Amino acid sequence: MPAAEPDPAAARVAVVGAGPIGAGWAIAFARAGLAVALHDVDRDRLAAGRELVEARLADLREHGLLAEGPAAVAARVEPVADLGDALAGAGHVQECAPERLELKRELFARLDALAPGAVLASSSSAITASAFAADLAGRGRCLVAHPANPPFLLPVVEVVPAPFTEAAAVERTVALLRAAGMRPVRLRRELEGFAFNRLQGALLREAYRLVAADVLDVDEVDALVRDGLGRRWALTGPFENADLNVEGGIVAHAERMGAAYARMGAEHGERGEWDAELVARVAAQRRALLPRERRGERIEWRDRALMELDRLLEGL
Ligand SMILES: NC(=O)c1ccc[n+]([C@@H]2O[C@H](COP(=O)([O-])OP(=O)(O)OC[C@H]3O[C@@H](n4cnc5c(N)ncnc54)[C@H](O)[C@@H]3O)[C@@H](O)[C@H]2O)c1
Repeated sequence: MPAAEPDPAAARVAVVGAGPIGAGWAIAFARAGLAVALHDVDRDRLAAGRELVEARLADLREHGLLAEGPAAVAARVEPVADLGDALAGAGHVQECAPERLELKRELFARLDALAPGAVLASSSSAITASAFAADLAGRGRCLVAHPANPPFLLPVVEVVPAPFTEAAAVERTVALLRAAGMRPVRLRRELEGFAFNRLQGALLREAYRLVAADVLDVDEVDALVRDGLGRRWALTGPFENADLNVEGGIVAHAERMGAAYARMGAEHGERGEWDAELVARVAAQRRALLPRERRGERIEWRDRALMELDRLLEGL
């Protein structure tokens, strides 16, 4: 594994698979000034992916989100029908083929052989690098970089190394993603669903339960998230939200709400109560991020930002 590249923004990127995720990555990388080779086994899908890139770049420009003309950015995305040609000179490969284990296994074996110096990152939503890259000579270069959909509008990316992934591959990926304006979140180990879909799944499981119990209809569940929880979550995560919502922060929130949340979980056989040591750990991390004396200022910021959001949403 070569040492981390000095200038990740200078690297050429190959995107393999030109569906919505591949096209979305191509936009994100090209918008940041990177040269992108976009490849697909299916020529029609490749052409459609390239058209999607052009259409979304025009939309971005219309919304004031593109510093250059869309044609100049689109010119950095080269559709390449041959896999070997697409990989030539690439420092990073972003695999975006369908979510099928056998397919990813075979494809990664080819990527390993054809792109010996590159980091090989999969967009996989759920399949771990351990499952598709364990037998490869170059497995130290393999990992998951799971985007949210669409990748050019939602900047978060989960970077998930397998136990065999080399630290340099993780560092290079994180540096590249940052250079591309993305916000990588590095998981310390692989686990099913990674973290994004675990959080999403927890909410969706409860949403299904509320419909199953005939407490709410589908649109009523969506309204609670769309018009309430989701608006706050656009600005703060669940921990910051708990910290800001109760005078006294995380510890006071856990004292007030912890037992009730534990009972709700127990209805479905969940344990995982918030013990004092865990709550103290969360509180300490929050205090390092936001000292107690700045809590009021942060609440004011949140409320003003919610006003901005309200104004934007009114126009939609
Ligand atoms: N859709 C989402 O919300 C989402 C979000 C994050 C990550 N992902 C993951 O990203 C990946 C791609 O998702 P998608 O929704 O764009 O999939 P998709 O099935 O719509 O597109 C995949 C593309 O890959 C092409 N392809 C198939 N075999 C190939 C090969 N051997 N080499 C090159 N190209 C090949 C197909 O022709 C197709 O155009 C999946 O692993 C998916 O789980 C999806």
